[in-house]
Amino acid sequence: MNHAEKIMTDASGWLEVGRIEDIPPLGARVVRTPDGDIAVFRNAEDEIFALRDKCPHKGGPLSQGIVHGRRVACPLHDWKIHLDSGEAVAPDEGCAARYPVRVEDGFIRLSLTPDEGCADR
Ligand code: FES
Repeated sequence: MNHAEKIMTDASGWLEVGRIEDIPPLGARVVRTPDGDIAVFRNAEDEIFALRDKCPHKGGPLSQGIVHGRRVACPLHDWKIHLDSGEAVAPDEGCAARYPVRVEDGFIRLSLTPDEGCADR
């Protein structure tokens, strides 16, 4: 782990993970945490989303998928996952845990506590 990847949250538990420009449009970057990797996505509208980097199908790395609108296509078997909920697009079923993320002054901040509502912890 290099210095840039050190996990250092602020007093409220938010981790700064860089600027929006650090993530390629329609791409993602991975934040490694003791509880597993989190994928932080940027879509064409510069919206930012964060999901566990683990497809609900067979654990594929969602961070290597293609972002389209508010969905990402898993690189392994092409399941589509809603970026804003972590849920698989029907008829597929399952979800990737979603993490709160916010953008302030162009900087992305990520909470390491996943949202409720997904069984994948
Ligand atoms: S592991 Fe993601 S679609 Fe199969």
